[in-house]
Amino acid sequence: MSEVTSPQIRARKRRNGSDPLVMVTAYDEPGARYVDAAGVDLLLVGDSLANVVLGHEDTLHVTVEEIAHHVRAVANAKPHAHVVADLPWLSYHVSEADTVTNAGILIRAGAQSVKLEGGVVRLPMVKALLNAEIPVMGHLGLTPQSVLAFGGFKVQAKTKAAAKLLVDDALALQDAGVFAIVIEGVPPEVGRLVTDALDIPTIGIGAGPFTDGQVLVFHDLLGLNKNKPAKFVRQYADLGGLITEAVSKYAQDVRNASFPSAEETYANPAELTD
Ligand code: KIV
Repeated sequence: MSEVTSPQIRARKRRNGSDPLVMVTAYDEPGARYVDAAGVDLLLVGDSLANVVLGHEDTLHVTVEEIAHHVRAVANAKPHAHVVADLPWLSYHVSEADTVTNAGILIRAGAQSVKLEGGVVRLPMVKALLNAEIPVMGHLGLTPQSVLAFGGFKVQAKTKAAAKLLVDDALALQDAGVFAIVIEGVPPEVGRLVTDALDIPTIGIGAGPFTDGQVLVFHDLLGLNKNKPAKFVRQYADLGGLITEAVSKYAQDVRNASFPSAEETYANPAELTD
């Protein structure tokens, strides 16, 4: 099990002198192993699995079983980082009992906590999870599971009234007992307001520089995505380009019969060639 616990994450507030939290998404064993070796604090098995791994247009097309399958792979990397699993759409919207059962599947698959989207409206589910001793991370702002209700992926909390509602949601989640909150797709001033209002850490994505930490999607960070990166993404490598270049060289070597060479071929037993 990971060595980084939810109480340790909860204590990581920048204004109290903590370093910013670093979270990256992970979906399989090698990805988790390489990201963990970089010394991140949290690995998120996000429902972005739907977009970046399974090729869907949004996050609405991924199930608890699919997320659990990838949590198991990430847990097999035995990461030092804390592993959070996303509760997918409809896994925590129907009943408290369903919510706890679904979260239990993700915990038994190897997650140390679960993340869910929404504020006051989700409080009964958050409390049910906490009563079952399951640590919960919140997620507010441009919550991708609300894409149909929002009418697209649009920056949220652009008015004073909407910013106040977001801060109220964050305070309600904090009072209920969540250990951290992801703030996505809001103006930087809203990232600052909500971070200042809370005693638990905020982890931003497209929420400006004032949050207590940052999260990026593995495929965005490494240049593996088919879509143009969003404004908030900093791409640190072009692994997509490297993959195509490497596989093109392999294809060329197969076609011109320079692969495999003698060094890449097992020796024949004498009996076969006598
Ligand atoms: O699923 C995901 O990748 C996420 C991040 C965008 C925070 O929830």
